[in-house]
Amino acid sequence: MSGTLIIAHPVRSAALRVGPVRIAIVGKGGAGKSVISGTAARLLARRGGKVLALDSDPMPGLAISLGLGPLTEPFLEGAAEQSDDGRWRLRKGIGAARAVQRFAKVGPDGVRLLQFGKATPEGLGPIMGSLNAFFQVTHRLATTGVLREWNVVGDLPAGPRQAAFDWAPYADTFLVVVEPTWKSILSARRIARIATSRAGTVALFVANKVHGSSDVKLIEDRLGTAAFGAVPADPAVIEADRRGAAVIDETPACPAVTAIARLVDQLMRA
Ligand SMILES: Nc1ncnc2c1ncn2[C@@H]1O[C@H](COP(=O)(O)OP(=O)(O)O)[C@@H](O)[C@H]1O
Ligand SMILES: [Mg+2]
Repeated sequence: MSGTLIIAHPVRSAALRVGPVRIAIVGKGGAGKSVISGTAARLLARRGGKVLALDSDPMPGLAISLGLGPLTEPFLEGAAEQSDDGRWRLRKGIGAARAVQRFAKVGPDGVRLLQFGKATPEGLGPIMGSLNAFFQVTHRLATTGVLREWNVVGDLPAGPRQAAFDWAPYADTFLVVVEPTWKSILSARRIARIATSRAGTVALFVANKVHGSSDVKLIEDRLGTAAFGAVPADPAVIEADRRGAAVIDETPACPAVTAIARLVDQLMRA
């Protein structure tokens, strides 16, 4: 199976973006999705916009990279109710704006985080109410008055499943995080294709953990397209994760944060 990957040109136009940044971060497990999501959300907030960070990974990650520490609880408990036929719906009076106001955790730089919680030893059963509320809120972000102006950064789980099942309807852009390895590059191509099967979306590749320009070239050659951005392999990222802290708080001027800042600036222009 060959064929050209349909990807937007890395820099779509020189003009300023009209609306807010609305991205979902995808890629293989361990590629660096949470680090890039959390850091990008913080930097977007520092540039003055309202930011909603959405963690739809049932494995822990985004809260730490945002600087909120290891939060694992379901935030939207009680936001949804189940009707007699078993369907979940948001409780009366809880729209997307109210849900963000009432249930999101406020993090550093004023970033709001919503998460449905993390898989428990009993699986997702105990957090189904929160999970359903989360899904419904994310589907209303595009149509809810005040929230239309918010930047949205979604940290998706590894692989293409959530993108395929419409877990990021708010995103016009999928950032596909890719490491300089064959497995990561092959996964990235697959995920990009699936994610952009929804009309009106584009995939932009971000090379992560690169050791110099030869790694970026390797990725670009194998993808057959230019990378939108590149983030260097940086021991400061690993050290921050070891401490359960956000790299932007621990080592704000490190090369990885600097590269993600460049990425955010490009996104705001894209
Ligand atoms: N640019 C980078 N340089 C060095 N290590 C990184 C970099 N980006 C991510 N990592 C490390 O890779 C691991 C996976 O990162 P994470 O963001 O949790 O991935 P994902 O969310 O895609 O599973 C973590 O240990 C993190 O510290
Ligand atoms: Mg993660």
